[in-house]
Amino acid sequence: MRSQENNDTAGASRTGSVGGERTRMINRNFFLHIHAPRVHVHSMKPAYSFGLGIILGFLFLILILTGVVLMIYYNPSVEQAYQSVKDIVYVVPGGRIIRNMHRWAAQGMVIVVFLHLVRVFYTGSYLGNRSLNWVIGVVLLIITLLSNFSGYLLPWDQLAYWAVTIGSNIAASARELTDLLGVTAAFDPGGFMKRLLIGGEAVGQPALSRFFALHVIFLPLSILVLTGVHLWRIRKDGGISRPAASATDRAGDQKWYAWPVLMWTELALLLGTVAVILCIALLADAPLLEQANPSYPENPAKSPWYFLGIQELVSYSAFSGGLLIPVLYLAFLFSIPYVDREDRHVGIWFSGQQGWKVAGIAAGGTLLLVLSQLFVMIRYGWLRDWLPGISQGFVMLLNPATLSAALFILASEMVRWRTSSTRMAALTLFTCTFVALLIFTAVGIWFRGPDWEFYWSPARWPVQ
Ligand code: HEM
Repeated sequence: MRSQENNDTAGASRTGSVGGERTRMINRNFFLHIHAPRVHVHSMKPAYSFGLGIILGFLFLILILTGVVLMIYYNPSVEQAYQSVKDIVYVVPGGRIIRNMHRWAAQGMVIVVFLHLVRVFYTGSYLGNRSLNWVIGVVLLIITLLSNFSGYLLPWDQLAYWAVTIGSNIAASARELTDLLGVTAAFDPGGFMKRLLIGGEAVGQPALSRFFALHVIFLPLSILVLTGVHLWRIRKDGGISRPAASATDRAGDQKWYAWPVLMWTELALLLGTVAVILCIALLADAPLLEQANPSYPENPAKSPWYFLGIQELVSYSAFSGGLLIPVLYLAFLFSIPYVDREDRHVGIWFSGQQGWKVAGIAAGGTLLLVLSQLFVMIRYGWLRDWLPGISQGFVMLLNPATLSAALFILASEMVRWRTSSTRMAALTLFTCTFVALLIFTAVGIWFRGPDWEFYWSPARWPVQ
């Protein structure tokens, strides 16, 4: 970074004293110094990064500020939690809007973190020396989801209680396998995971205390530290990625001073992010149902929306949907930069024409495959409906989730064989898994009703 800064400073002095003054200003100011003195013109193109990483940072800032205010009134005890949230909404002046902003910024962060991951992947920005930052990013993604999930329980209403109960059952998914093998009494990793998460067999005070500590201290601190490393790596890697042609441009002629252009852009993004969250918070209230009642389950009991894709898979098989597929997916995400090392694709959306074609076919094929499997399953049932005596082991191995995963891996291997390109293979697998995740999540959100049956709309749910 030092040598790059020196280059930047040298470039600045070549372009005159105004540039030199701007560079000194950026280097002297604590907040401005996060930036390199000069940024490449390509990095400033709105349709390249869409400012998504920066928006993520601002959403996190909103969460910290509103979260600290909420903490003044919130009481993390099973007896008091619900009433304290009600007080925040109905008694504390401005409490409702602060709570709404916190809730919607948190949901926004989940959506934007996925969009950012998609942008980074499709522009090949994990390639070359950026592989470490990709790995840090995947850890940030996991922590962002956990951070959201831990906050979900805090209002202690029916929605929170049953969503976390479902989440904790998903954590215990390994039990399906250990039950099948008859070893659960001696070896119960699923039960261990569940107890680790909620501190017992059912959601209660230990779970609330754990989730509170995770939500207000450990997870935000981890995001803060890792984001710091993430930003530092971006500077070490010479700014955000760009195609090789512009990377080799002579210093100076393709760069802008971070002050003022980038700073104004960032200020606009900050104001835009706050304005959007504020508007949504004014228009829509964060949900708050009745106080949690452990003896009255919600039906359907749904996990938070970002885990509904997994819940859908768990309804096929707990072990493969709740453990096997998520672990394989994370292993795939972490390994992408180490399997695909074709540096020439850095900074080019979809790596050019061929990539657009490959990703388009992968998306279309996945849509067709997953929708037709869902159609068969919903209309005609699956293995257990056809062969009632079948062993659970077969259902675990052969269900729409495992079948899709196997076909995606096969498709990506075929693409690698046809194109001799690991980048094209990665594009195929990433696109297939991402589109499938979207479909399963959409089905979980909109088309599952009581007893996890399929319904076209909640209006058709049976009256309970
Ligand atoms: C809390 C979550 C995150 C924050 C606050 C964050 C922040 C940022 C920022 C500010 C940038 C530079 C501007 C931009 O590209 O928009 C960036 C770039 C980058 N991010 Fe993230 N990020 C997060 C999560 C992730 C995730 C989930 C991934 C992928 C797994 C990721 C991988 C990267 C990479 C590789 C770059 C460099 C991109 C390039 O060189 O073009 N980040 N991030």
